[in-house]
Amino acid sequence: MIIEPKTRGFICLTSHPTGCEKNVLNQIDYIKSRPTTNGPKNVLVIGASTGFGLASRITSAYGSNASTIGVFFEKPPTEGRPASPGWYNSAAFETQAHKDGLYAKSINGDAFSNEIKAQTLKLIQDDLGKIDMVIYSLASPVRTHPDTGERFKSVLKPIGDTFTNNTVDFHTGVVKEISIAPCSGDDIDNTIAVMGGEDWKMWIDLLKSADVLSEDFKTVAYSYIGPSLTEAVYRKGTIGRAKDHLEATAFEITDSLKAINGKGYVSVNKALVTQASSAIPVIPLYISLLYKVMKEEGIHEGCIEQIERLFNERLYAEDLQLDEQGRIRVDDWEMRDDIQAKVLELWKEATTETLPNIGDLEGYKTDFFNLFGFNVEGVDYDKDVNEMVAIPGLQ
Ligand code: NAD
Ligand code: NA
Repeated sequence: MIIEPKTRGFICLTSHPTGCEKNVLNQIDYIKSRPTTNGPKNVLVIGASTGFGLASRITSAYGSNASTIGVFFEKPPTEGRPASPGWYNSAAFETQAHKDGLYAKSINGDAFSNEIKAQTLKLIQDDLGKIDMVIYSLASPVRTHPDTGERFKSVLKPIGDTFTNNTVDFHTGVVKEISIAPCSGDDIDNTIAVMGGEDWKMWIDLLKSADVLSEDFKTVAYSYIGPSLTEAVYRKGTIGRAKDHLEATAFEITDSLKAINGKGYVSVNKALVTQASSAIPVIPLYISLLYKVMKEEGIHEGCIEQIERLFNERLYAEDLQLDEQGRIRVDDWEMRDDIQAKVLELWKEATTETLPNIGDLEGYKTDFFNLFGFNVEGVDYDKDVNEMVAIPGLQ
């Protein structure tokens, strides 16, 4: 079939297998020339199909020949209806990994559930024995608690006061003010239940009790901080509370792994266009200004560049360069004073009329469509493609 992008607000309902494949192969190429010395060997990636999780899987596999198990929640294709992009990404990754003699298998289902955890544990026991790294990179709006069955929904709201600031509709380029009412009721607790650290800890507890974690095991989850501009809706909002919880969980995990000298870390990553971040108000305007400034300075990175730096210059380097709160920071270039000062200046000037010049709206849009395999360089979109692609290592 011929597949075209079909957008509804900040989501795209279709995705392109060849474009997704090209994105994955480009990331593999990037990592092949940047190997990780003493990198991980047996890696579980939870949230492995898109964004930072996919980049982590690729960096593990192609940076240090790691065997990888990927867990994700993606929609398979049906006749005439393309799969979600993470499906095609995983198909492309596993196809290439197998060609290159790398072990790569995956499990598609709800990582929050006991069933998927048990299935993953069995696969580790059967195929890998022990693992030396778990990357936790889930981004989800909902979680069903595995023990109580309660379904929690996360919200992206400020705490206390209504937040008013500019945002951009990146499809139309219209910059306009939006107001977001403060959270109420159980919003904070619910958001912590979905995006906090409870599930991460459950995974590690299970794997530890089954004795499948090797000596010096590491686990890393991803967090975000960002500038004062987005603070009210992000870091000091409901999602920020969940990130606080996630960050505190890293220390609990480290405490629980003393016997094997295991470590739990949070890495604070840069703001990037992903399916998760395009849903957050104000962030798209911030990102389009940030991209402009960082590209001008020659320090722009995508997911793969971020994770390559995380592995090679932090996790597997001499010095993790932890901040005062014990976090790994690869948002260091985003947060540089000169970068933030420039973004803040541009923010004051940003209107529908000025944004195409002062911001990188085109870069934002390209990245957004790239997530779904569209607008990828070197792909012929007029060519018929088979939407019924299989993931070779799917269990
Ligand atoms: P993403 O949407 O690209 O990836 C989410 C992954 O989680 C996918 O693999 C998806 O299949 C999987 N997933 C979602 N729900 C699942 C479920 N119930 N069971 C199994 N798998 C499930 O998101 P991302 O932007 O790469 O975010 C990953 C992490 O990085 C998040 O914690 C996010 O907060 C953090 N982060 C993101 C940014 C950013 O700007 N995008 C910046 C810093 C940190
Ligand atoms: Na991810």
